[in-house]
This record gives sequence, C-alpha cells and structure tokens, in this order.
Amino acid sequence: MRRAINILRLGSGLILLAYVVTHLATHAVGLVSLGALQDVNGVFLGIWRSPPLYWVVPACLLVHVVLALVGVCGRRTLRSTRGQAAQLVLGLLIPLLLLPHIAATRGMLVVHGVTIGYRHLFLSGLGSTLALTWSIVALVWSHACLGMHLLLRLKTWYPRAAPLLHAGVLLLPVLACLGTLNGGRDAVRAAHNPEWLAKAFADTPGPTTIDAETREMATSWIQIYLGAVGLALLGRAGARVWRRQQRPIQIHYAGGRTARVPAGTTVLEASWIAGVSHASVCGGKGRCSTCRVRVIAGGDALPEPTPQEQRVLQRIGAPPNVRLGCQLKPKASLHVVPVLGTATPADGFARPRHVAGVEQEVAVMFADLRGFTGLAEKKLPYDVVYILNQYFEHMGEAICANGGVIDKFIGDGIMAIFGIGRSSREGTRAALRATLAMAEGLAVLNERLAAELPDPLRMGIGLHSGPAIIGHVGYRTNTSLTAIGDTTNTASRLEAMTKELNCELVVSQNVIEGSGWAFTALPTEIVRVRGKDEPLHVHPFRKIADLRLGAATPAEFGSAAEL
Ligand code: FES
Repeated sequence: MRRAINILRLGSGLILLAYVVTHLATHAVGLVSLGALQDVNGVFLGIWRSPPLYWVVPACLLVHVVLALVGVCGRRTLRSTRGQAAQLVLGLLIPLLLLPHIAATRGMLVVHGVTIGYRHLFLSGLGSTLALTWSIVALVWSHACLGMHLLLRLKTWYPRAAPLLHAGVLLLPVLACLGTLNGGRDAVRAAHNPEWLAKAFADTPGPTTIDAETREMATSWIQIYLGAVGLALLGRAGARVWRRQQRPIQIHYAGGRTARVPAGTTVLEASWIAGVSHASVCGGKGRCSTCRVRVIAGGDALPEPTPQEQRVLQRIGAPPNVRLGCQLKPKASLHVVPVLGTATPADGFARPRHVAGVEQEVAVMFADLRGFTGLAEKKLPYDVVYILNQYFEHMGEAICANGGVIDKFIGDGIMAIFGIGRSSREGTRAALRATLAMAEGLAVLNERLAAELPDPLRMGIGLHSGPAIIGHVGYRTNTSLTAIGDTTNTASRLEAMTKELNCELVVSQNVIEGSGWAFTALPTEIVRVRGKDEPLHVHPFRKIADLRLGAATPAEFGSAAEL
C-alpha cells in the first residue's frame, strides 16, 4: 500500500514537473517577443490540452494535493528533516496562489470557452500579473526542485550531475521571469496602438478579462482547499487522541533516552519525538537505509520486514538484528541503537562488507624508525617534518603499490593492513612484498638524504597474520579503516621485538605459512609475546633483504601486479 502511494505521488509529481518545465520554457520565449511567446504558448496549450492530456494535469494536481493532506493526517509527528518540512510547507502554500491562476486560465476556458492568453493577462494589469506569476514560479519551482533533490541525491551519479542540474535549476526560472517581463512590456507598449488592440482581441469571443464569475470560482476553490487542509488537521488530531488511548510502548536508546509512543509508531518517529539524533536521508521513505537501527533487546516480537524494507536491508548486507527505523513499527517495547546519528546520501549506498565491520584473515604490519627521537632532538622542527614526510611517502608508496591499506601513522610509526577483501594467502604475500619494497624505498631515501643525516635511517618491521575485525571506526568525519584484535597486537609486539633481537624484521610463522611460498634456511626463534599463553614461532631477519634470500624461489616475490 505504502509502495503504491509512493509510486502515485512520484508519478503525479513527475508529470506536474514536466508541465512546469515546459510552462517555464514557454515563459522564457517572451525574451524574444510577445508574438513569439503567443505562438509558442499555442503549441504548449495544443499539447497539454490535447484530448489524452486534457485532464491529466488537473488530475495529477488533485492526486498530489490529496496525498500530501493524507500524509499530514497520518503522520504521528510533524517533526521531520528540514528539507522535508520546507517541501511540505511550500507544497501547502502552492494551491493558494495556483488556484486563482487556474481559474483565470482553465476556468475561463471551461466556463466561457475563452482561451486567456498572455496578451489578456498582461493587459488586465501587468504589475499584478507579473507579481502573481513570479510568486507561483518561485513556490512551484522550489517545491519541485526540492522534491527532485530529495529523490535523486540517493543516486550515485547525482553528485557528478549536480553542477549541471543546479545551473538549469537557476537558469530556467530566471529566464521565465525575464520572459514574462519582456513580453508584458511589449504588450503594454503595443496597447497604445488602438489598431493592434482591436486586432489582438478580434478573434477572441466572449469576455477578454477575468470576470466576476471566474473570480468567485477561484474564491470557492480556495475555500474548499482550506477546508480540506482543516479536515486533514482535524483528522490528525482525532487520530492522535485515538492513539493515546492505546497501550504505549517504550523505545529505549543507548545513553538512557526513552520515547513513550503508541504502538505502531515507527522507531524513526519515536526518535524524532524523543529528540534523539537519528539520520534519515530519504525522510522515512524506506529508500536510503540511513535510519537503520541495531535492535539490542526486544527483537523477538518484531513484525517481519516488508518486501521494501527487505530489499534495502539486503542491498546494504545488514545483519539480522538491523532494521530500518522508518519502516519498523514495534508493537512492544524495544532497545535500539541508531547506527547513524547524522548521515549523507553516500551512507545509503551499498558498501563493501568490511566498511560496516567484518572479521577476516589479514596480515598486519607495524613499522617504526629506529633512533628517530634522538635524531629529531638534533634537527630543526622543519627538518624533522620534512624527513618524516619523505619517509612516509616512500613507505606509503611501497605499501599501497602492493595492495596494502595504511591504517595510521603513529609518530614515526606506520600500521598497515594487507588482504582486506582478499584471501589470506594474497594478504600475506602482499605484506611480504611490501616489506621488501619498503626496504628498497628506504635505501633510496637514505641515498637522497645522505648529506642531511648523520646516519642512514633504519627501521624495524613486525609482521603477523590472523583473524581481525576490520571496520571503519572513529567519530564523525574522523574515521578510518582499521584492524582490531589479537593479530594487530601481536604484529605490534613483533615490531617492538626487532630491538631485542637486534634485527630489522620479525615475521611470524603464520605469515610464512600463509604465503604458501617455500622458504629455506629461515632463522627461527620461539618467543613469548605478552598477552599470549602459547609461545610463538617467529623468524627474525637481521636485514630485511635477507627475506628474499630465504625464499626457495626468490622470483616469486615479484611485483604487486601478480596479486
Ligand atoms: S529514512 Fe531512508 S530508509 Fe529510513
């Protein structure tokens, strides 16, 4: 039912938009001349008043208004997003200006069989005609563009097309208003010539200006419309009273907030009522997924997702305890956590699973510059930052070229993850290749900075692989992809161990085995790692380049392109 209503609202809105665009384009022709405006208006009316379309526009207008009023009547709260609220207010104001205009044009045609053209309208009072026309253009166009923006901003192509669309959105109404101004001035100038005036109206039977009967018709239409708005508000108030009689339920939020609402209220409406920050990019139409909530308790008694909700949840790969807040109408109390407090349209796009949080096998690398603190104390701050940035650039290139993801830079350290969204074998191989590439990059950097460094830069690297939770973590815009868990901690400790073992690289047995490559004569140590019960087999390499020597087939290290 809701889907059918959405389709009806969208369909009627799109037909009205097509009418408005062609109407404004016709207005714009007034920039050429009044004659051209009249001619193009003839074509415009010929199309929209042709038999199949004659009643389509009025019917769409009626449907659009009725659905808006039904929507107002059925809503549990009038709180919503700013965009939605603006669209609703503009939409409710439009009929107040549009109905007199419709009465003056379509009404005159129906009652008197007279087509009131631009000439008639301009000559019946240029100032008032322009004021009315421009007000209608501003209201209708703002309402239509806002509606299209709310609809299209969930499309992946929209950000790219937006500059072009915005140019059209601004240009069309401006040209339309200038067209009516120019056409109106043409009419007023030409009206000084009695011959032109007589000829202009000679072929128009019946009244040439809007008569009292038409004005009365416009007044009664407005009264009917205002009555309908009043009825919708009354219906809404009645529904609220009725709902208050129902047993309330409680929606509990993380942080201690609780909304007491009648059963049947959506979780998103409950959030609005309780003033809980809850994203809703599509305004509760079940399209964007940004209102999704994680159900912490009370999920057993929940109604099944509707097909529409199901589709959206599948699209984003949501786990079973995640539901759309705007579609979920709990009948019993519930504990939820809105997944997004604020959101952008991009949050509604399908994302790789690891962005939302997933456990997978990855290789984690920690790299650290040796003795850099001592070096930094002897250098000017500018030099320190310059050297560090050069170092990060070389290491970053080596990591990224081999398919790694830089998790973070910590002081002079780097944490990188390999194998996200790939097999564990690909991840460990990529980590080993990146390690060699980093050593080569450091050698190049040392050569370049030879004159500025008392000693070449040295680094220590720890590599470990295993399961980790991969996901975006952080606050607001400060989020990054990271790996959480024992694998990360162990990799960090192996890096620290390079100092104790006096070597440049410590690789865990997991990484060597996971790569599937045959190594020979690997130096091996059995070490205890803090926080782990079992001792760990590791391979310390005095020089990182020794890693290549240990490989049975050194060529296998190859390049990232093989991945
Ligand atoms: S607000 Fe967009 S799907 Fe719920």
